[in-house]
Amino acid sequence: MRLLEQAVTVSLASDDDLAGFKAAVRRLVAQQMAPQDVQWQVATAAHGDLFSEPAPVTQAARAPAFRLPAQAVQWLEHAALHSEPGRFELLYRLVWRLLAEPGLRDDPLDADMLHAERLSRSVRRDMHKMTAFVRFRPLAAQAGEPTEHVAWFEPDHHIVRATAPFFARRFAQMRWAILTPERSVRWDGETLDFGPGARREDAPPADAGEQLWLTYYAHIFNPARLKPDMMRKEMPRRYWKNLPEATLIQPLMHAAAQRSGQMVEEGATEPQRRRPASSIALRLDQRPADTALPGTLDALRLATSHCRDCPIGQHATQAVHGEGAAGAALMLVGEQPGDQEDLRGRPFVGPAGKLLQQAFDRLGWQRELLYLTNAVKHFKFELRGKRRLHKTPGQKEAMACSQWLEREIGLVKPQAAIALGATAARALMGYAVPVSSARGQWLQRADGLPVLVTLHPAALLRMEVGDPQAAFDAWLDDLRQAAGYAAIRTAST
Ligand code: URA
Repeated sequence: MRLLEQAVTVSLASDDDLAGFKAAVRRLVAQQMAPQDVQWQVATAAHGDLFSEPAPVTQAARAPAFRLPAQAVQWLEHAALHSEPGRFELLYRLVWRLLAEPGLRDDPLDADMLHAERLSRSVRRDMHKMTAFVRFRPLAAQAGEPTEHVAWFEPDHHIVRATAPFFARRFAQMRWAILTPERSVRWDGETLDFGPGARREDAPPADAGEQLWLTYYAHIFNPARLKPDMMRKEMPRRYWKNLPEATLIQPLMHAAAQRSGQMVEEGATEPQRRRPASSIALRLDQRPADTALPGTLDALRLATSHCRDCPIGQHATQAVHGEGAAGAALMLVGEQPGDQEDLRGRPFVGPAGKLLQQAFDRLGWQRELLYLTNAVKHFKFELRGKRRLHKTPGQKEAMACSQWLEREIGLVKPQAAIALGATAARALMGYAVPVSSARGQWLQRADGLPVLVTLHPAALLRMEVGDPQAAFDAWLDDLRQAAGYAAIRTAST
């Protein structure tokens, strides 16, 4: 590290030098070096090694430890691998601010926080795509030698080092190498060996096994299930050139309409009946006496906890019940508990809940006067390593849970409800509601309950384009329409 009239230039060994970045951050914080006095660069042959002028090891060892929120640490580790050149400046500034401004961690609209989260999300997506789209091809081996499998991949960010352990676990018995323009990695069954980038021509061409895969892919392709937009989202075009099956996608898509027409003519399958809007109420009335639903919120909580009408309940930590008092005039309905709600057993206490609380603060609403609940009472997730990633509940799961929501409505007797997002809107109304066009509008249920439709707070947190502040203000405008109900509590039942 070199001092230049107060300023410091940190030179990292490579774009994916996460260890160097973290060590430099620790050292800079220990030296109280303000972000505006730090310049970051990645070493090229011209720049030399890790630090232009390495600080003594003892100095780094003496750097006092500091703690950052776990969430921020995760963002930093991913966002540091983004290809955006200014990421190190941003991330060091964020660390500096997190240490100096304790409230920052709870501010979901801070521009630096949003920026870091966006970078982190895009890196995680790239890592996920790499795990999904790497296609190995066998390399001709010498007699007696194990076959090596080689893949060519072009990531958007500097993710090879971070993603390689996934392949080592998944293909532990295989010898393989992944070549990318910036970095290559080889696995010999025991260690990961990283090297410089390679060229596409260095990877082997298609083989006979690949033909088998193409035949299989063409067979399993179901034209009736074709959702081109979803497919493009999941498998963006830029990956196609390295996916053998991509050569089949266009012809299969073109043939899809014709093939699905044929399937309709051939097939005599029983159509699924749509649930009429009033069917939830009917089902509740028609339940046999021995499974009669509970008559108080406490009894309802107990009954919900034991629900296994769909598979989600088995995996969640606990059911998350609604919160608030019977008699609240306004009920807000979300989708399902998230990771933190599942652990704490309370609705809206994670990031989406924090944004909702900010909205309440701006609107002058008191959370205690409202009733907050979810359409689905258990957390549905997918395990990715140690992380539990939110998965949208399926319609059947939401249906299975609707008995509990309906009973809650019956017991709380709100005068109005707000549907936060599509799952809530569907659960409340009994039919799919297009949230982007219906937001800000009041709908009426068959039982007369007015339902205001708006976005789920998580949708605002996920927003990648546009002005987050303007989106938040527009959301407040939607919510404000229910202000008349937010302050009232009728006699408790
Ligand atoms: N998202 C929801 O829909 N509900 C919660 O309780 C938390 C996050």
